[in-house]
Order: sequence, then C-alpha cells, then structure tokens
Amino acid sequence: MVEYDYSMEWLKNSLSNRPNNMWRYAEMLPVTHKSNIITLGEGMTPLFSLGKLAPQFGFSDLLMKDESYNPTGSFKARGLSVAVSKAKEFGIQHCIIPTAGNAGGALAAYSAKADMKCTVVMPRHTPAIFKQECELYGAELILIDGLINECGEKIMELNQDGRYFDMSTLKEPFRIEGKKTMGYEIAEQLHWELPDVIIYPAGGGTGLIGIWKAFKEMLSMGWINGPLPRMIAVQSQNCAPIVEALKDPVHWKNNFTPLATIANGLAVPYPFGMDMILRVLKESGGTAIAVAEDEIIAGVREIARTEGLLLSPEGAATWKALLHLFHANKIASSEKVLLLNTGSGYKYLDNFNFF
Ligand SMILES: Cc1ncc(COP(=O)(O)O)c(C=O)c1O
Repeated sequence: MVEYDYSMEWLKNSLSNRPNNMWRYAEMLPVTHKSNIITLGEGMTPLFSLGKLAPQFGFSDLLMKDESYNPTGSFKARGLSVAVSKAKEFGIQHCIIPTAGNAGGALAAYSAKADMKCTVVMPRHTPAIFKQECELYGAELILIDGLINECGEKIMELNQDGRYFDMSTLKEPFRIEGKKTMGYEIAEQLHWELPDVIIYPAGGGTGLIGIWKAFKEMLSMGWINGPLPRMIAVQSQNCAPIVEALKDPVHWKNNFTPLATIANGLAVPYPFGMDMILRVLKESGGTAIAVAEDEIIAGVREIARTEGLLLSPEGAATWKALLHLFHANKIASSEKVLLLNTGSGYKYLDNFNFF
C-alpha cells in the first residue's frame, strides 16, 4: 500500500479552489510529476438524496453516490486514471487487464489517451457494449469462456515473459489509490460528517478497501473524527465468496459454485484481496450479504421509476441489500445510509429481457 505524509491538515482548507475532479486530492495520490497525469475528468460524482424512495420505506436519510457519471460510465475510471498515469511515469508501453467489463473499457480509454498499448481479457458472455468500447478505444480484446478468474489465468499464460504490465486488481498498488478518492469525496461532500453505513457492491473489493484507506488517512490528518461508517459488502447469490469467507474463513473456497450474474462486476470467485476485505468488514463492524438475481433486476426498475436513475445491476443490489438488513434489524431507519452506484445501467441493457 502507498503511504503519504499525513501531516497535511492544511490541505483540507485549500480544497475549495481545486479542480472539480478527483485530482483535487493530488497530494494524496501517488503520481510524482503532474505532467504524467492522464485524466478524463474522473471523480467528484454527484451525491443524490433518494428523497422519493426513502420515505416509502421509512428511511430518514438515504444517499446515493452515483459513479456512473465517471468517464466510461463507472468508478473503474478512478483507479485506472491513477494506474495508467503511474504506468506512464514508469515508461511502461503495454498494459494488460482481466475484467468483468468496466475496468477493461476504462483501461482502454486511459491507455488511448496515454499512447500506450492495451490488451483486455474479458468473459465472452459480457454485454456487447463492453466489448465494443474496447475496440473503439483501440485495445486488443481477448474473449474467454469463463469468469474473471479464468481471464486472469489466461493473462498468466500470455505474460510468462513479462512483456505486459499486469493491471489485475490489487496486483499493482495504484488502482486502489484512485478508488480511495470516493472516500475523500464522500467526506468532503458531506461536510466531513461521515454516514453511519456505506453499502458497496463488492467483486475484487478494491473500492471497499480504498474507501476505508481514505477514511484512515483522513483520521491521521485530522480531517475527520470517528466513528467511521459500518462497511457492507454486497454480492450476488450467484457468486458470493465474501459472504462465504465471512462465515468460514478457512474452507470458503469449497463452499460455493461460482456462476455468472447479471451484475457482471460481482462475479469474482476468488478475490485476491480477500484478507483485506474481511479486515475492513470486521474493523468497521460491517458485514457481507448476497442478493438474488431477480431482486437485482427489480431494484434497477424500482430506482429507475422512482428516482429517475438507471443504475448498474451492481448499484441496484445495494438497495436490495439495505432492505434485507433493515428487516433483519441490522440497520435502523434513523441511520444515515449511503449506497454506491458503481456504474451506468446503460451498459447492461443486453442483460435485461424486456419483451
Ligand atoms: C459496476 C461495478 N460494480 C462493482 C464492481 C466490483 O468492484 P471491486 O472489484 O472494486 O469490488 C465492478 C467490477 O467490475 C463493477 O464493474
């Protein structure tokens, strides 16, 4: 993990004059020379109050940070902006990434901007737009019959001679630095008063770990005070390794059969950062929960029809998880809850059977 100088209490008060994107926190990001920053304007995404939906279910304060406003339509832009900037700083020529969809498109876009070659390895069943955007951004695309772990295996095979820079989740230390800016923004947008609960759709878990890292950094710098929010990881019932690992940290790999899900980004059967994910959940007093495929589709519809927001299935899963946790008395209606919509629903239209 990248460490910084945490004596920068002053920085908090200078933010109002900064650019309206995640690079406003440049001192807390790992790029050494500003000239290497590859940006498409990622970050400072809106924080909506779900003011129509919340009262129907008795919630007093329900927020959604909408990451679909990022370049390439997902929060993956944040991590890949930093990782590609850092790759440029290192003089890297060719990156490779296994992806459930969104990370591949983001890497393709930032690589194009950085004049870098890019290879994306993606499950064949991913909705067409994720493949088309890679081609449009000029990336090489390799399709695999399987899930993201099989894409990762293909990369190991292709990269035996080390010709590519491997951008796999948490195998390089910089994507998480970009993702952590969600945590900084949540704090700044809420005037440094964090919510009680944050509900996050977790695949590889980089966002979850990153947001927690941001909170710890802000505590060290005196930007915020505790207590920190309870962090909840949401998965699909089709692929819920974090839920299994929380129940049985030793045998979890044997306790489930990974299947594809309409929330493509949640189909990560063996997260590389599982230990870190579990640590965040435990330390924050949070938990992990899985929701069913038909609930995810229902969630997309409910939020579209009430709030006018077309969420990614991953984002909609957080809403259904909230309802489960509320009915199980694990979240009170009086608590301030923040849901993360990590991507745009428009990229997933192939996954819905409309007629
Ligand atoms: C829309 C969306 N949400 C959530 C995730 C899971 O992200 P993470 O790997 O940070 O847990 C992904 C990953 O592909 C995604 O595309």
